[in-house]
Amino acid sequence: MHVETQIVQTQASSYPIMIGEAMLDHLEEWIAPYCAGQKVFIVTDETVAPLYLNAVQHAFKKTGKVVYHSILPAGEATKSFAAFQALSEEILAILPDRKTTLVALGGGVIGDLTGFAASVLVRGVPFIQIPTTLLAQVDSSVGGKTAINCDAGKNLIGSFYQPVAVFMDVATLETLPMRELLAGYGEVIKYGLLGDVAFYEKLLENAPCLLQRDKSYLCEIIRHCCQMKAEIVAEDEKEQGKRALLNLGHTFAHAIEKHLHYDGRILHGEAVALGCLMAMSLSENISQGEIERLKAHYGEIGLPCQLSEIDATVTWNAKMLTNYCYQDKKALDGKLTFIMLKEIGEATVSNSIQRGVVEKIFTQYA
Ligand code: NAD
Ligand code: GLY
Repeated sequence: MHVETQIVQTQASSYPIMIGEAMLDHLEEWIAPYCAGQKVFIVTDETVAPLYLNAVQHAFKKTGKVVYHSILPAGEATKSFAAFQALSEEILAILPDRKTTLVALGGGVIGDLTGFAASVLVRGVPFIQIPTTLLAQVDSSVGGKTAINCDAGKNLIGSFYQPVAVFMDVATLETLPMRELLAGYGEVIKYGLLGDVAFYEKLLENAPCLLQRDKSYLCEIIRHCCQMKAEIVAEDEKEQGKRALLNLGHTFAHAIEKHLHYDGRILHGEAVALGCLMAMSLSENISQGEIERLKAHYGEIGLPCQLSEIDATVTWNAKMLTNYCYQDKKALDGKLTFIMLKEIGEATVSNSIQRGVVEKIFTQYA
């Protein structure tokens, strides 16, 4: 079995991302060095548990660990204060010490929640990411952003806290619903647009490989995204500069998600995919022809190109959507922050976009 290892190097820590196929069948070969204590607590959700929990439990038991687990409801609502509190009580009940390792087995929801718990319980315990969605494999499991949601908004309570290791089994993507795969692909497109034109062109040419879930193709794009993210995080772990580029499309996306109350009508990655189109429209140097090319690609694979394609019964009020942009945590002193494209493959931060321009974009995509 071929496993590729990449290293994420930040000022305070260094950890491996291991990417391979069928890794979960032999996980015990890889985990021992990243798990110093006796106790391991696996956090997963109700969809992932019947698929992969046994294999992961078995691997940790084989290395001599005492293994506990918690199975939470699947979906964004699990990134809540209430779920965080309940999970914390469960973990504290096993009397963890500072070497007790938390393991996040699942998508970005489980990864963000578990990472946040790891960062605060007994003032910090190690945690391992085992991402099982494309979104989590290309983005959320790498780089140490952890968070839960609250009434004031999404991801507003969180920390920067790096995992000790990330294990990615591309075979887990076989069971992922196509809609979730495509949502994760929204983040993949983002990487091409913001930093690598050749990668972007490759993505546009290979829709069939994506739709057929060709494993070597998926491995290749996951490796590429992880490498790009690792480089950015190494340079700017706490988002003081370059890391903000990873938010391409996100100010639009967060407004769309907020408008739909995070109720599943749109997935985060779908919103990012649409947000990337909007960011292209906001960028003076990007031609309408380029935008149409990406729309055609979305059409080919089944990602939405317009807000009405998400829900035609919703009033897509551009003023209201723009107001949500101003509530984003990236809005500083009443000024919006947008990531714009200088060209395909090169992004920059702008704080000078006027409200009227944003409203116009939302109207255009309604
Ligand atoms: P998710 O965790 O809700 O997973 C999506 C769905 O797929 C869930 O129903 C889950 O049970 C199911 N699932 C997971 N793996 C599966 C598998 N292998 N087979 C079948 N079903 C499977 O969603 P997500 O898209 O992975 O993550 C979205 C979250 O990630 C959002 O909360 C977002 O804010 C967060 N996020 C965080 C970062 C970060 O840097 N920390 C980056 C991007 C997104
Ligand atoms: N997903 C954006 C980041 O990790 O910074």
